[in-house]
Amino acid sequence: MVKVGIVGASGYTGGELLRILAQHSEVEIACVTSRAHAGKPVHKVHPNLRGVLDLSFEDIPYERVAERCDFVFCATPHGASMEIVPTLLEHDVRVVDLSGDFRFEDVAVYERYYGKKHVAPEIKAAYGLPELHREDIKRAKLVANPGCYPTSIILGLVPLLKAGIIYASHIVADAKSGISGAGNKPRETTHFPNAAESVLAYKMTTHQHLPEIEQELRRFSSEARVSFVPHIVPVIRGLTSTLHCFITRSIDAVDVRKLYAEFYREEPFVRVLDVGEVPRLSAVRGSNFADIGGFAVDKERGRVIVISAIDNLVKGASGQAVQNMNIMLGFPEQEGLRGLGIHP
Ligand SMILES: NC(=O)c1ccc[n+]([C@@H]2O[C@H](COP(=O)([O-])OP(=O)(O)OC[C@H]3O[C@@H](n4cnc5c(N)ncnc54)[C@H](OP(=O)(O)O)[C@@H]3O)[C@@H](O)[C@H]2O)c1
Repeated sequence: MVKVGIVGASGYTGGELLRILAQHSEVEIACVTSRAHAGKPVHKVHPNLRGVLDLSFEDIPYERVAERCDFVFCATPHGASMEIVPTLLEHDVRVVDLSGDFRFEDVAVYERYYGKKHVAPEIKAAYGLPELHREDIKRAKLVANPGCYPTSIILGLVPLLKAGIIYASHIVADAKSGISGAGNKPRETTHFPNAAESVLAYKMTTHQHLPEIEQELRRFSSEARVSFVPHIVPVIRGLTSTLHCFITRSIDAVDVRKLYAEFYREEPFVRVLDVGEVPRLSAVRGSNFADIGGFAVDKERGRVIVISAIDNLVKGASGQAVQNMNIMLGFPEQEGLRGLGIHP
């Protein structure tokens, strides 16, 4: 059994890692950290784990975490991860980091969008989107797990971009995320009376996921530019992106769908819907699937609409992190991740 640790295990993605790893046959959870909840059994913070995991949170130096674990997930905020990851790597532990700290090829882009000086710019990671980077992930000591919006938007756009049939510089991504995307710290925007029965656009031109999305899309077209507007919607988990693209030549919906079916043919976690079917959050919630559909073509206006849905905490975070661990350690990619969505 591989001994696994989770730093930041009291947060939402930490809890989701515990839920998934509790059902993983190849790992033993050896260490879970939290500063605020040190000493408490994990089910006091994550009540869904009562009777399942006999573990308590610890607040210990990261050297100790490294000594007790072969593999560590950092489920910590950006800024914190870059302080922790170097120690883990120095101790030869392989790591998946869920924050934005190691996702960028160009540290200057990170520093601009995250407003922080990077303390470990020399450390390089594989970008943990298996559908694009599986071979790099296999070899990596450190995987930077993608953001939730980037996961949904990149998966929803790559087949069209690769086919070269859209204006790459004119893509609109209108995305809606459940409130758990903001983590477990209470905030004015996520406070129930403010968030319920409402929809809120935010960071309309400045969101930190924008350069991450464009970094990956530019592997397929150097001109890729996205008008990305994130919204908070009053659901707890789930993220859907409506992607508007403008086509350079006539194509029908059946052929658009074929591009996706072909591109994702071998992928265990991407489900390509039939023409006219629209992905719904309830079908992916709790699962590691990304559902991609819509495929509506408006010939008069030269538009194609693709819709991509994931669970922000699973394919958008902890499920994808476990998928990456499985790839890094040579386990079956679906191990621990066979859970289905919970529709309705
Ligand atoms: N929520 C999502 O849907 C989602 C999706 C994709 C990626 N992510 C990324 O995943 C990471 C975790 O997100 P989350 O939603 O789980 O956040 P969260 O609910 O706020 O949890 C953060 C965890 O990190 C710990 N922590 C905070 N500051 C720390 C520090 N300076 N040093 C060590 N531990 C610290 C906290 O516990 P203590 O304070 O008790 O130590 C807590 O357990 C973030 O980088 C986030 O951007 C989140």
